[in-house]
Amino acid sequence: MQTQDELKTLVGQAALAYVVPGELVGVGTGSTVNKFIDALATMRTRIAGAVSSSVASTERLEALGIPVLDANAVDRLSVYVDGADEIDGTGCMVKGGGAALTREKIVAALSERFVCIADESKRVEKLGRFPVPVEVIPMAAQRIARQFAAMGGSARLRLRGDVPLVTDNGQHILDVSGLQIGDPLAFESQVNQWPGVVTVGVFAHQKADVCLLATRSGVQTLQFKRAG
Ligand code: A5P
Repeated sequence: MQTQDELKTLVGQAALAYVVPGELVGVGTGSTVNKFIDALATMRTRIAGAVSSSVASTERLEALGIPVLDANAVDRLSVYVDGADEIDGTGCMVKGGGAALTREKIVAALSERFVCIADESKRVEKLGRFPVPVEVIPMAAQRIARQFAAMGGSARLRLRGDVPLVTDNGQHILDVSGLQIGDPLAFESQVNQWPGVVTVGVFAHQKADVCLLATRSGVQTLQFKRAG
């Protein structure tokens, strides 16, 4: 039986099929994406480079000899490859377990195709079992926590050790549990409007087009319709 780590390696390698030779590739963040980055190194001479969603991914890409370009230097990317904390049957996701959600959403928005790579533990019927990460401006954190409480959620400030975790963008993360996310698109739109929210970790406007799902019986390819 394959371990979860081996399943992540499988989908990291499978995602190479979506990389367009000669072009730049958008690169997400996390342990599954690290497997993709390692696989991408085998074709580094055949790609123009990468646009990265975090300091951690940038460091890994550069250490493997893959040039990383600023997102402002590109108009579009043909593909973005990233993991997820949860993915539903329509390609909507919860992301941000690695605190990189804001840059992930930016790079996803630049990309024509979002390829999600995940092991089968991430596949859910309904989003919300995994606490939803929300990047916030620190002075707004308590007010935003009360807004989530009013919709039945419970927000907890993410810590690193004894102090609040600080994202690559200098902000904080609330992890919100107990949410019922029946309509991910509406939920994302609603929370996006709250003052002090930088990014909500529901990816419905930037949902996946494809999910490569590693299962005990091999890699399944799930195709999703584009958001309208
Ligand atoms: C990073 O902020 C996240 O969005 C990751 O894509 C997500 O947490 C999945 O990470 P793993 O591949 O490590 O499970």
